Amino acid sequence: MKLVIGIFRPEKTNDVLEALYHADVRGFSMSRVQGHGGELERVETYRGTTVRMDLSEKVRLEVAVSDEFVEPTVSALREGARTGQVGDGKIMVLPLDQVMRIRTGEHDRGAVTPVSN
Ligand SMILES: Nc1ncnc2c1ncn2[C@@H]1O[C@H](COP(=O)(O)OP(=O)(O)OP(=O)(O)O)[C@@H](O)[C@H]1O
Ligand SMILES: [Mg+2]
Repeated sequence: MKLVIGIFRPEKTNDVLEALYHADVRGFSMSRVQGHGGELERVETYRGTTVRMDLSEKVRLEVAVSDEFVEPTVSALREGARTGQVGDGKIMVLPLDQVMRIRTGEHDRGAVTPVSN
């Protein structure tokens, strides 16, 4: 299992969610974060040139998936989030040791597969 984390532009949220839906990915968590992606803005001060690191609003989406869903999830995130401009964000894939569904106590594969009722 892996934890796929996508950090991307808030205005691409709907596109990302739609792409995930089409990839049959159902469970995820989302939060708003502030980030910095390396772009430096030079600011003149009376002492000379200083560098200011700006923060921008991003969305952070976390998806716990079984191994066969890693590639579809990463692809969906990239397709949904990409504009081609600097600042599109990052996708990170982390090892995930254990997942439990609180209601049933199911572990791992049984816990990352959504149950519809
Ligand atoms: N190394 C990093 N670790 C954690 N978060 C990062 C990292 N780099 C970027 N981010 C997050 O991703 C957001 C967008 O970053 P950004 O798109 O500028 O990444 P980038 O790799 O510099 O790509 P680009 O070349 O398109 O600018 C940042 O605001 C930050 O929240
Ligand atoms: Mg950047």
